[in-house]
Amino acid sequence: MQIVKPAEQVDMARNKRLLNRYRFIEYETIRILAAWLPAAGRMEYKLAMGRFLWEEAQHVQHLFQRLREVQTPAFRPPDDPALEELMAEALHAPDERSLLAGLFRVIKPALLQSYRWHSQQTFANPDAPTLYALKHIQLDESEHVAWAEAEFAGQPASDWEHYLAALLAHAGGISGAEPRSQKPARPAARSPFRTPVKAARDERFRILQRHWGDAEERRQVNEAARRLDEFENYSQEMLAAETVALIIHLSPDMPWGFVYDSARHCYDETRHCQLGIDWLRQHGLDYTTVPQNTRIYQWRSQYDAATQYCLLTRGNEAHAFPHRRRSLAQYTAAGDQLSAQYVSYDMADERQHVAFGTKWLPELMAKNNIEMPVEQFIEETVALWQREYVSGDLPLWNERELA
Ligand SMILES: [Fe+2]
Ligand SMILES: [Fe+2]
Repeated sequence: MQIVKPAEQVDMARNKRLLNRYRFIEYETIRILAAWLPAAGRMEYKLAMGRFLWEEAQHVQHLFQRLREVQTPAFRPPDDPALEELMAEALHAPDERSLLAGLFRVIKPALLQSYRWHSQQTFANPDAPTLYALKHIQLDESEHVAWAEAEFAGQPASDWEHYLAALLAHAGGISGAEPRSQKPARPAARSPFRTPVKAARDERFRILQRHWGDAEERRQVNEAARRLDEFENYSQEMLAAETVALIIHLSPDMPWGFVYDSARHCYDETRHCQLGIDWLRQHGLDYTTVPQNTRIYQWRSQYDAATQYCLLTRGNEAHAFPHRRRSLAQYTAAGDQLSAQYVSYDMADERQHVAFGTKWLPELMAKNNIEMPVEQFIEETVALWQREYVSGDLPLWNERELA
């Protein structure tokens, strides 16, 4: 009997181990990006982070679909404390640039390299579904790595990046199979992450720390002012993305489906923000001159994740449709195709966000120990939204207590 020795180095057991490691790294990257999105000040980074975390969610989804075919449960810890430590530490970056450089110049290039090697070494036909997943993940990851190469071009690796590289080496690399080096000491630059209760903006922006009643009054003036106001507001929808990101960060025990939907929700809001930026630019206006009402985020962040989610999906999002429909009719009648298209796509996204709220609120309430009928909770939270948000009051309870 002839025994053929295969050339492939990734057998099924190794395949599972590797897929679990990738899934873990991609998932933790989503969580880190979500945690930092409100804390990062630079608007261009926030916009990029929204896209990155949604694309990472696509990668986890690809890996999840393959993992559930080869193991139960599909999601398993990587069974390697050193790898867990790497991803736990990556959160505690000294600042937003270091964070992104650490994730995208240290961890991601190694991950991409591992995906390439894995794709060459697995049994091509028997493991074709893995190859399909890795092929598509690599498209995004190559772009992410290229983004960081351009963004940090000419900038030498920082102590923080050296630290993460040493933690990765301590974990035996992405594969875990490389020789493991000593665990590195924590660098002085390491800064313990704190949940962002305020939304950061870079120095270009003026911060509006008060109620927004003025805008409502302006809306009544005329259609041109109303239209400008609508797209200025779109350019502030980063505030919604930041709240969704915070909810992801505050909800580590929610199921994967919630994280997947919320990654999309967060990404959508960064795209709505971009839509406002684009519209203003197309009309010769600079979005950085629009004052940012970050008090809205700060006000929402005082509440538990379920209340924040309900305020957003059942307050703001569920109540936006009459206003948007009126806008759409107006733009269509005026032959304003650009504005009409932007609002149409926005409404399609927002319908989905309201549906996410309906789908996930019961479980999020349970995770936050809220024991009342869902309908009652929604009713009470929408009343809270009317009282504190629609009124324009946006009370900051802690500040009042301090004062
Ligand atoms: Fe939106
Ligand atoms: Fe939304």
